[in-house]
Amino acid sequence: MPRRKLIAGNWKMNKTASAGAQLVNDIKAQFECGCKGCENGPEVLVCPPFTTIAAVIEAAKGTCLQVGAQNIHWEESGAFTGEISGDMLNELGVSYVIIGHSERRQYFGETDETVNMRVKAALAHKLKAIICVGETLAQRMAGVTAAVIEIQVRKALAGLTEEDMANIVIAYEPVWAIGTGKVATEEEAEEVHKDIRALLKKLFACPCIAENTRILYGGSMNDKNAAGLLAQPDIDGGLIGGAALKPAAFAAIIKAAL
Ligand code: PGA
Repeated sequence: MPRRKLIAGNWKMNKTASAGAQLVNDIKAQFECGCKGCENGPEVLVCPPFTTIAAVIEAAKGTCLQVGAQNIHWEESGAFTGEISGDMLNELGVSYVIIGHSERRQYFGETDETVNMRVKAALAHKLKAIICVGETLAQRMAGVTAAVIEIQVRKALAGLTEEDMANIVIAYEPVWAIGTGKVATEEEAEEVHKDIRALLKKLFACPCIAENTRILYGGSMNDKNAAGLLAQPDIDGGLIGGAALKPAAFAAIIKAAL
């Protein structure tokens, strides 16, 4: 069974509730995402800010567009100002949650340890986790990309079972490519994706885990470069920031994954 591609839009801190609903309507107008047409195509997901999720779920009703969140806290409830729990996400009805995005790591003190705790919380709430990993430009220049990615993946997946892995997606997002317009070449991206898959082979006894786990590329993916990246054997989709806010570009990326 080939891995089904996943095209995921990370809206970051963009779009109010009404603007988010409008964006979904614009995406629907660009792309036939009624459930009939895209059963055989990629899974399509958008991850709006928390306050926009309900409106986007409403706007996406009757389509195969899935909705995810951009973070989850590991505690069930309590004195954690500004955080969102798994129960809160469950009640909204999201299916995925992005965890460990480099912007969270860079600006909000996210560590490999907190990423792992958030991943476990997502799994406990039956949410699929998109775990982000990626090296900085300095790390790439220093030739330590493979080592950095290995540590991030190992720590994010610590304590997870083979069963858990059915609900895990890994997103390789080189930090230097995010929002910069500087995209990794197909070869650069494929090399890291292949390394991650090889690592999964080492971490889990069943080879099915490495074969079945989807690894997305993220970092300035757009309508121009998506087809080439998505054609790589180990690239199973994209986590898309800027281009996910442009309906025509996002629809073109979805089509490139068909
Ligand atoms: P970008 O963001 O597509 O704007 O580079 C990707 C991401 O941060 O997930």
